[in-house]
Formats: sequence, structure tokens, C-alpha cells
Amino acid sequence: MIHENFLRENNARHFWHPMAHPSEMLENPPMIITKAENTEVQNVDGHTMLDAVGGLWNVNLGYSCEPIKKAINDQLNTMPYCNTFRGITNDKAIELSYKLKEWFYADGMEKVFFTQGGSDSIDTAMRLVRQFWKVKGMNDRVKFIALSKGYHGTHYGGASLCGDPRFRRNYEPGVPGIFHIPAPYTYRNPFNEENPEILSEKCIQSLEALISSQGSDTIAAFVMEPIVGSGGVIVPHESFMRKIRQICDKYGILLIADEVICAFGRTGEWTGSRLWGVKPDIMTIAKALTGGYFPMGATLISGEISDAIEKNNDSLGMLGHGYTNSGNPVGAAAALAALEETNKLNLATNAKSRGAELLLGLNKLKTKYRVIGDVRGKGLMAAIEIVEDQETKKPANKDLVSKIYKTVCEEGVLVRASGNNFIISPSLIITKEHVNKIVSALDKGFSII
Ligand SMILES: Cc1ncc(COP(=O)(O)O)c(C=O)c1O
Repeated sequence: MIHENFLRENNARHFWHPMAHPSEMLENPPMIITKAENTEVQNVDGHTMLDAVGGLWNVNLGYSCEPIKKAINDQLNTMPYCNTFRGITNDKAIELSYKLKEWFYADGMEKVFFTQGGSDSIDTAMRLVRQFWKVKGMNDRVKFIALSKGYHGTHYGGASLCGDPRFRRNYEPGVPGIFHIPAPYTYRNPFNEENPEILSEKCIQSLEALISSQGSDTIAAFVMEPIVGSGGVIVPHESFMRKIRQICDKYGILLIADEVICAFGRTGEWTGSRLWGVKPDIMTIAKALTGGYFPMGATLISGEISDAIEKNNDSLGMLGHGYTNSGNPVGAAAALAALEETNKLNLATNAKSRGAELLLGLNKLKTKYRVIGDVRGKGLMAAIEIVEDQETKKPANKDLVSKIYKTVCEEGVLVRASGNNFIISPSLIITKEHVNKIVSALDKGFSII
């Protein structure tokens, strides 16, 4: 057993943490978590907190899901690894492909390509889209358009799609031919427009203007999260994604729905696309696919795209793409168990009800504290945007955010501080009492200002 002093002494000394400055981590080392159970995590000091981050939008079934643990354990004993490159496959990957086809059939998805996580799934989607257009003989269709606040992972393609320059700037040049339009973010947008429906319309107009300036026959796909997650939980007007679909159809552009966060019930529907009544051409999934118990993702492909590639009879249809862990049997076993539990517990319905309670509670806090500028949410994804003052909307500084954050932790709730936002994305198994606990810990946190 490693002594806790060893952990403290070596914390952030030998590995670089994602999405952080290494020097900051050395100066202000991260919280060491050593245990997790049900919906709670415990730090090295023995302090227990309700995990209102849900791992990282992925531990939808909590940390004590016995069926997933058993499935992983059984699979490790039967066959811990098997590749799925040409000429070989495994039973669990086949079974999972069947289940995923069933799960996403309502979204128009017919085929699955297994990946190792969300970034893989997005880059797979981008590559398959370019391949599709080559198979169709439309070689000029290579460009992508995305939302300015969107997050699509950290591989070169996905990072180039990210709307926030923090994820691109230090690594540029990125993939060429990628453009952004304003996100339907009512609190801050270039149009100074607070009405969600009018804002949605203005964003759509920007899209059409961009398509026309680039040449519609050069655009391969539009990429969006049905609800922007990491970019600050931006819930668009209900018409937004449907209108994006219409514009894509008008110009023959494919629509990629990045469902890495939204899929499997988080929004209160089984997928974000279904929430808005849209059928995309490609969907990307990861995170809750295995409940966070194993790194795995997938790219889902509609009938139109799969038909074109399957019917191709020259080398353009060959999938020169794949990962060592595409269809890993342990991941597939974990996913099969996670899907069964997700379905059995009807997590989408719970997310919808608990999410409504959470949003109500957060909005009450907004009326109480002038530093809460905006509250956004749908299902069990929510954000509080912290400002210096509601009048000025000036984003709160790091010190203010971390002071509140610390108090919330001390009150027994872990939220995620991202810039001047608190992001709340708990497991989908939480109860009304858990929601009350989150709101009351935040209340205490904000009361110290
Ligand atoms: C919408 C979205 N797409 C892609 C990714 C990348 O997933 P991963 O971190 O598993 O590579 C994320 C991660 O948060 C995400 O939120």
C-alpha cells in the first residue's frame, strides 16, 4: 500500500495533467482521489464528496455498477484481448455492434466503427466523411464547419474543429479547411441577441453566408454537439439543430452529431439528436458507452453513407483506418453491461426529472447571488456562469471561482470549474436528495462572497 505522503510528494511531479499548465499543477497540486463508490468520491484525506461531475460526463451509472464490473472481470478471464483488423473478430464486439445498431436505429444509424474514445470517434467521422465524398466522386468536398463554442476532442482533426482557441492555439497550424460559425449562446454572442429563437436564426444565417462564401460544393460536413457540453452547456433553441439539418440538406452537406456527452440519456432523451427531432448522417459516441469503466468509443454511420462505401468496388471503399483497441472484447463486454443497465434503469427519464429539479434550484441561486450571471441546463448537464456582477457580465476571475469551488468541495460536493463556469454533470442515477445536496452546497459556496 502506497503511503499517502508518497502520493502528496509525487503529485503532479512526474506526469502532466490534461487541460492544465504543468507549472500551475506543481504550484497548486490536484486533489488526490483514492476511492469511489455509488455516486461519491473520496479524497486522500478521507473527505467524501458527491461527484457532481459524474467522472467526466461518463460515469452515468455511478461507481458501483456490479454488472459492468462482473462483465469486465469475466471477459478478462475468458479473453482479455482480440483485435478486429481484417480477417479476425470477436464475439463481444459482434454482439455490441448488434445492440448499438438497435439502440441508434431511431437516429438513422446502421453501422458502427469501434474506437478507443471520443477524440478517436470524431477523427474517424471526419475521415469517413472525406472517404464518402471521394467514393461519390466529389473530391472537392473536404471542408468542415463547426460551432465556435464546440468541443470535439484533442486529435488533430477534432482539435481543429474545437471552437475555443485554447484547444488550438498552442498546436497550430491545425487541419486546413475548417471554419466556425457563432454558437447559439444567448448570454454572449456577436449579435447581442438574447432571444434564443432569433439568435438561432442569426447563427443559421451566418452558416448560409459561410457556405456561400466557401462554395457549397466544397463543404464535406457540419459538425455539432446537440447541446454544447464542455464549452459551457449551451442549450440551443429547440429549432436550431433542425434548421441546421435543413441547411445541410439544401446544400448536400453531411451532418455529424458529436454525441460523446449527449448519447445514452444525459439530455433526458436517449440521444441529443433525438431530443431535437433530427437524424444526422454520422454520430460519435464514447464516455457513457462503458460508464467510464473502460476507454471505448464508436462512430455510427447512416445507411446512405454505409451503402455508398459498401457498394464501392475499387480501393476507395477500403477502410484504411482503425485502432489496436477497435472492438476490444473487454470494452465491448463493459459496454454490453452498461447498455443493459442504462436501459433497465431508464436513465433518460431520471435525467429529465432530476435535471428539471436541478435547473430550478440553480435558477433560484441566480436570483440570490449577483455573481451568478447565467444558468443553463437540460437533463443532467448544467452550467453556472460566474461573473463579477450581473450588470457588467464581466467574467469572474480565477481567485473568485476557486474560492467558491473550495467551499463547495468542503460542503461535500464536487463540481467542475472550467474557466468562469461551474459545470454540473452528475451520474444519471442520482436522486432528488442528491440534487438538493448539490444545490445547497453551491448555495453555501456562493454565500461566502
Ligand atoms: C463532445 C465531445 N467530443 C469529443 C470528446 C473527446 O472525447 P475523449 O476525451 O474521450 O477523447 C469530448 C470529451 O469531453 C466531448 O465532450
